[in-house]
Amino acid sequence: MDPSLLSTRQLTKRFGTRTAVDGVSFAIQPGEAVGLLGPNGAGKTTTISLLTGLLHADGGEVLLDGRPLTGDTDPRKRLLGLVPQELALYEELTARDNLAYFGALQGLRGPALSEAARSALGFVGLADRERDKVKTYSGGMKRRLNLAVALLHDPQLLLLDEPTVGVDPQSRNAIFENIEALRRRGKTILYTTHYMEEVERLCDRVIIMDHGRIIVDDSLAGLKQRGTSVNRLRVELAEVREGTWLESVRALSAVRAAEFDALTLELTVADIARGTTEVLACLQHHGLTVTGLATHQPSLEDVFLQLTGRTLRDV
Ligand SMILES: Nc1ncnc2c1ncn2[C@@H]1O[C@H](COP(=O)(O)OP(=O)(O)OP(=O)(O)O)[C@@H](O)[C@H]1O
Ligand SMILES: [Mg+2]
Repeated sequence: MDPSLLSTRQLTKRFGTRTAVDGVSFAIQPGEAVGLLGPNGAGKTTTISLLTGLLHADGGEVLLDGRPLTGDTDPRKRLLGLVPQELALYEELTARDNLAYFGALQGLRGPALSEAARSALGFVGLADRERDKVKTYSGGMKRRLNLAVALLHDPQLLLLDEPTVGVDPQSRNAIFENIEALRRRGKTILYTTHYMEEVERLCDRVIIMDHGRIIVDDSLAGLKQRGTSVNRLRVELAEVREGTWLESVRALSAVRAAEFDALTLELTVADIARGTTEVLACLQHHGLTVTGLATHQPSLEDVFLQLTGRTLRDV
């Protein structure tokens, strides 16, 4: 049996002639936090809709807890909690009534439902607004309630589709801290976002999609490793000096390229730590004084750009 909590095999979805998800296979182990990245239209939301059964695949399959789902009423669907990209809330209802409605859909009732609603509202910091209609909420509060809905039945695996999109930085941070807390509680997380720093903060592993296909599925460290050619080092020198020192710098084992202009030495290095050590030692050996040093390690955005030739925010 497949030990993964969730896995897909050759998952495919077409809309007319467009293939939105094109043979996607991956597996998520219990306790993992996986970032799902890709530009607009890459197929992220469609993939998540296939995972939760909101859409039916044209090919391939989804295995939950080692076995395929057996339709919409399969009780194992309760392992999943979905935070959809589009808010799914009733604006005319209060927060409490929204939770009562969605909790009932999950089979919760009576004291268990009240307790689940109270706990979820407290967790996202909305306990004091529970009797207000959702239409009076700010965008950030709606996003927090959207998260609370997904938590009601205490799912093991959370599928979060851009849960912090379109909110101010303060609300974004509050939601993000909630998600970090869920992770610390041992929840398994699939996290879709356009924010690189969020993936770097939350996830162990990254799946990058483009045009419906997975182009990378790797650990965060492994992914950065692929972008080593963009490790950069900038060294400011106190004076311009003639001589062979620049040739010596270029000959260092960690240095791939070096340019000197005005008082600035720009380097591409194989490894930031080794490059910095070697370069500083070499400059000192030649009697040069260093007045500034800056490093640039590849971000996930750099890596994506390298892999696809496009930025994450390109349409
Ligand atoms: N219901 C639909 N009918 C027709 N085409 C669709 C439908 N849903 C998605 N698509 C198309 O499928 C492709 C993938 O869309 P999807 O929403 O999965 O992308 P995404 O990666 O979630 O993008 P974003 O970052 O903008 O949310 C796009 O080309 C989109 O236009
Ligand atoms: Mg989407």
